[in-house]
Amino acid sequence: MGSKTSKPQTSNKPSMNVTTSNTDTVSRTRVMAEREYHNVETSTYVLPKDDQEKDRLHEQHYLIKEKFGGNLLKPELTAKLFEKDINVLDAGCGPATWLMDLSTEYPNSNFYGVDLAETFPQAIYPRNLHLQVANVLEPLPFDFKFDFIQIRLFVFALRESEWEIAFRNVYNALKPGGIFQAIESCPLVNTNDPDMISLRDNMAQLVRKKQQNPEMASQLDKVMEQVNFKVIHKQTLEIPLGHGTPADIAAGDVSMGALIGMAPFMAPQMNLDIEEYKALVNKAAANLGPAKTTITLSGYLGQRPSDS
Ligand SMILES: C[S@@+](CC[C@H](N)C(=O)[O-])C[C@H]1O[C@@H](n2cnc3c(N)ncnc32)[C@H](O)[C@@H]1O
Repeated sequence: MGSKTSKPQTSNKPSMNVTTSNTDTVSRTRVMAEREYHNVETSTYVLPKDDQEKDRLHEQHYLIKEKFGGNLLKPELTAKLFEKDINVLDAGCGPATWLMDLSTEYPNSNFYGVDLAETFPQAIYPRNLHLQVANVLEPLPFDFKFDFIQIRLFVFALRESEWEIAFRNVYNALKPGGIFQAIESCPLVNTNDPDMISLRDNMAQLVRKKQQNPEMASQLDKVMEQVNFKVIHKQTLEIPLGHGTPADIAAGDVSMGALIGMAPFMAPQMNLDIEEYKALVNKAAANLGPAKTTITLSGYLGQRPSDS
């Protein structure tokens, strides 16, 4: 059965106990094309969980931070919350880069991260940061409520019908008046490059077969409203990939890294072998700039009503 986490009573860092929640959340690994993937039966997640993917997610974190001008959307509203002793959760935290950044910046608040896999740091992390395995599609395993929760970059993690379940679990884990931050990308890039168009369209077909919706990024305000959040902020950015500033060039590498990570799923989708598929991605990567490729990022803040 599920195991809940209580808020630590002292500032001592707990020993790293990886707590698991219900059913099949315990992370298992399958290796395909020399990369490590989740092996959670109910999950449709198509990205790896190995060190190479963690490096990609670390880099992506800093690019998103630069593009949105910080770790918090609408900081004139949100940043002052963090100066008090609040509880913050990143649900699906990956390697916990956002949490490591914020928990260092705000030592008076308590930070928690959950992920389907133990992709987060196992030994060294700030004393006000606590990490454990849990599935956002199950009630979150805490016996206290949070002031602020984030879900970020889940487009390849959830079936279309699962967004509402995940957001409801977030709503239930927030205090009345608590804030939910969601940041998502739309992987359907704008481009003139025929190879990139073929990769994009095949990726969309692949994830749609898995009942995912690659266009969820633009619709998260609707899902927030369905579970009773008041949407208090919505922001959309169009980011050049592979052309423009050094960050834009790096954003191209990060996006193409995601396509490389999907190789065991994408190569059969495109009737290619793994090496042919990677060669196609590398060819498209070299043409991101000339093809004026861009990607769209969307950020939202929702608030659980104070009287709820
Ligand atoms: C693309 S990564 C983003 C990680 C992090 N949110 C960030 O912004 O860097 C998506 C993460 O979601 C996790 N994930 C996928 N399905 C999940 C689920 N049902 N519950 C919890 N985590 C999940 C994956 O293991 C992965 O670490």
